[in-house]
This record gives sequence, C-alpha cells and structure tokens, in this order.
Amino acid sequence: MHRIVASKGIPVQHAPYEEISAPAEYLPLIKTAELEADAHQAFRRWRGRAPIAVHEGGPTFVLRYADVERLSSDPRLRATETGIAQQRGLAEGALYDFFEHGMLTANGESHERRRLPMSRAMASRLVNEVRSHTRECAETLIDDLSKERQSEFVSSFAALLPVYTLARVLGIPRGDEAVFSHDVLQLSKFFRPDSTDRDTAASTTAAENIYEYLKDLVQARRENPATDLVSAFASATDDGALSEVQIISQLVQLLIGGTESVRATIVAMTANLLLKKDQWRAVCQSPKLIPAAVKETMRYEPGIAGLVRIVAEPIEIGRSLLSPGSLVVLSIMSAMRDETVFPAPDVFNIHRDVSVGRNLGFGSGAHRCVAEALAQAELEETLAVLTRRLPSLRLEEIPVLKGFIFTRDPTSMCVSW
Ligand code: HEM
Repeated sequence: MHRIVASKGIPVQHAPYEEISAPAEYLPLIKTAELEADAHQAFRRWRGRAPIAVHEGGPTFVLRYADVERLSSDPRLRATETGIAQQRGLAEGALYDFFEHGMLTANGESHERRRLPMSRAMASRLVNEVRSHTRECAETLIDDLSKERQSEFVSSFAALLPVYTLARVLGIPRGDEAVFSHDVLQLSKFFRPDSTDRDTAASTTAAENIYEYLKDLVQARRENPATDLVSAFASATDDGALSEVQIISQLVQLLIGGTESVRATIVAMTANLLLKKDQWRAVCQSPKLIPAAVKETMRYEPGIAGLVRIVAEPIEIGRSLLSPGSLVVLSIMSAMRDETVFPAPDVFNIHRDVSVGRNLGFGSGAHRCVAEALAQAELEETLAVLTRRLPSLRLEEIPVLKGFIFTRDPTSMCVSW
C-alpha cells in the first residue's frame, strides 16, 4: 500500500492508487469533453492510475497531492513570464505589461523584488481594515438584494463584493468607485476560462484606464499619504527598486488576483453550504464554524484550479517524464481531493479534521498568495454577514464551477429567502 505523510507529520493511509501498467513513455490523455462534463470526476479517474495526464491540445496536469506540493517549490518549474500573453495574441499594451512586469508571472530575483514591497504593505493591520470594509460592502449589497424576494447571486453579490472591497482597501475615492469597479470587472474577464477576442479588446481598454488611474493615485498618495493600501505600497516602493510600470503592475495584480478567485469561492461556499442544509444551519447558529467552512470550501472547490508553469529541466514523476518547454498545471483541484490524503474527499464536510493535509488552495512555494490573510478575512466576513442577514437563504438553481486550469467561473445561481 502507498503510504504518504501529511505535511503536519500525521501519517495517513487511505485508498491506494491502482497504477496502470504501461511503458514509461505512455501518457494518459484527458479529453476536453471529459473535463468540461465533470473535471473532478476526470481527475479522480486518472489520478488513481497515473501521476500525470495530458490535456488534449493543452497542458499536462500533475494530479497527486504529494507531487503538486513538492513541485510547487521545485526550481525546475518556472512561472510563465509573457508566454500566456503571447499565446493569447498580446505583444504589447497595458494588458501585456501586467504579464511582463507583474509578480505572478515573474521568476527568481525579479519576482522577489516585485513581491517584497507588497508583502510589506500588507501588514497585519490591514486585515482588520479588510474585515470592516467587507462587512460594510456586504451589508450594502444585501440591503439592495433584500428589496426583492429572490436574486441571481453571482452577478448581484459574488461578483461585486470583491471589487468593491478591493476598491475600499486600496483607498479609491468613493466618487470614483463605480467607474473603477466597472473597469476592474472588464479587465478580469480576460482571465476567465472561456474569454473571447472581444473580451481581450475590451479588457485592454480597461487595463489602460486602470493603469492611468492608479498612476495618478500613487502620485497623489506619495504627496499626501492616507491610511490605505496604495499609500502603504507607495511608501514601500519609494526606494526606487521598481520602475513606474512595475509599481502599477503589482497593484493591478491585486485586482487580477483578488476578483475572479474570490467571486468563485463565495459562490462555491454559499452553494455547498446550502446544498448541505444542516451545515448551513450549523454556521448560522455557531459563527465559530465560519473559518472551517471557508477552509473546506477551498479544499472541495478551490477558487484557483491550478498553478500554471513551464518545465525548465526534465522532471521524472514515477515512470513518467515532464519534458522541458512543456506547459504544466499543478492541479490544486485534483490534489485537494486526493483520496490517499483526505478521507471521503468528495464529501463537503466543514467538520472534517483540518490537521490532515495542508490546504493548497492559496498555492504553495514562492508565489503562494500574497493576500492570503486578506482573502481569508474577506471570505469569513462575507459568510458572517450572509448567515446573519439571510439565514433563510435557499438555492433555486445549483451553479456549476467551470474552469479546470487557472480561474474558475461559476454559472448563474438563483437564490431566494
Ligand atoms: C479565495 C481567494 C483567493 C484564492 C483561492 C487565491 C489563490 C491564489 C493562488 C493559488 C496563488 C498562486 C498562483 C501561482 O502560484 O501561480 C495566488 C497568488 C496571488 N494572489 Fe491570490 N488568491 C485569492 C485571493 C487573492 C486576493 C484577494 C488577492 C489580492 C487582493 C490576491 C492576489 C494574489 C497575487 C498578487 C498573487 C501572486 C503572488 C506571487 O506571484 O508572488 N489573491 N493566489
């Protein structure tokens, strides 16, 4: 029996993998249709038989928890730099600049230099501010919602909350919030799984608007600092280590990193709790369960499907080989349902033992989510407000989370109360 050790040192033994017997050069192929029909089922089918599988016409998925965790810190895998932008037909412009100058796509020293001032600016003080901003934004959205008896939850709540909250955290003046949020929502569409060429054109315009807006805001905060994140970041970057385009690009990465992922997680969290009514009621009655509900959502239905990397040097996994130049996805979706680590992985259970298996929902290694504490606080406060204000919430339509490579995109979700 395979025996793997969970990261907190607890040995776990569950169902072993049943490896397929095949020559070393054989790589299982996952069909797009299979993934689109039910990505979790497709990953489960292949994870039990082989450590990696090739997506037809696409990247190679690394499927097992131990491999995903180990490879997320392996220097033989590199961030994609401008590779994805070029693949999507971008060669210049504001949107391209975010790939060229942002931290998420950078490697080595460039990555550290870009990330460090943002980590500094995100001091723990910010988390309490995020909590109060989230509460205020969630309350306002629910005030609007509750004028009716039902609503489409994704567009009227889950998509708006992260953008409005980020606007407050950054210190966008109230009068500019509507235009700013509109541009951020447009920009983020570029990163959705089924984004089209028309989205690229509109997202490029939005990226240009956001770039100019943030450039002026950083300048204004340098002259007149306030208590917001833009002021803290402007101060953390006044040593001249980053160019202007690099400074603005890190701020834009917050907008890119902090919208789609939070939107998907709010939908997954609310829908799965409502599908298990006893767990929804338990959270309504005992808010102490909120952090566990957030963690379980991130395991069961992660807001980011995987970590996308390029192979720089050959890597052996079992009897298979990742070849240099190939695109790989360290699949968080698959790893977090690995049956050799998590007992009953396909069951959503907020009461599960969280000491078993480290949650990889915020990634791992050098690129681990720079805003993890902020995001966790935001999700916890969101659930606190939802359960307090709308305890009688009911699902009228079950959403599906599309996307199995990077971002997740929820279909519509009608709710009533
Ligand atoms: C549920 C919400 C969130 C999830 C699931 C999530 C997940 C992740 C993951 C998996 C990564 C690693 C990506 C990689 O290694 O390729 C990451 C990185 C990042 N996230 Fe988040 N994130 C969330 C919220 C946020 C928020 C709210 C922000 C900003 C306010 C943010 C900003 C970033 C940035 C800038 C990076 C790049 C870090 C680096 O490259 O060093 N994320 N996130």
